[in-house]
Amino acid sequence: MERTLSIIKPDGVKKNIIGEVLKRFEHNDMRIVGLKKIVLSKGDARNFYIVHKERPFYDSLTEFMSEGPVVVMVIEGENVISRVREIMGATNPTEAAPGTIRADFASDIEHNIVHGSDSGDSASYEIPFFFSAMELS
Ligand code: RTP
Ligand code: MG
Repeated sequence: MERTLSIIKPDGVKKNIIGEVLKRFEHNDMRIVGLKKIVLSKGDARNFYIVHKERPFYDSLTEFMSEGPVVVMVIEGENVISRVREIMGATNPTEAAPGTIRADFASDIEHNIVHGSDSGDSASYEIPFFFSAMELS
């Protein structure tokens, strides 16, 4: 069993597809073990995406991530880190496989609906970033 951190980004919340995204995870044999809707400050977003601090899109990404509510969740299942990323699809929706969340709903490479931890190391940083042990069950 593995755990990963996923976020429905502000564009996903605005498009009213929170339920749709949760359904795609739940229907793939994954359990939502933690869930909340929150608003990130720009500083929160900068700390969350600190690995990208040198990238040209860092400022725009963190501005976008703090422009409205997001839904953060911890998902549990077998190989859930890589399986969540498969269900999400490629970062750029034009390259995302048909039937993935990003192919179906994302507008462009930045406004791409969902985040998912990309490794065990990132999950270990990202899960406690948002959730205490008491909030996960
Ligand atoms: P995420 O971290 O959000 O799950 O996405 P990812 O692994 O597929 O992509 P990553 O390379 O980690 O990039 C993080 C987020 O930054 C935005 N981005 N914009 N304008 C651009 O070229 C660009 N590249 C990335 C996206 O919102 C991407 O998901
Ligand atoms: Mg990433």
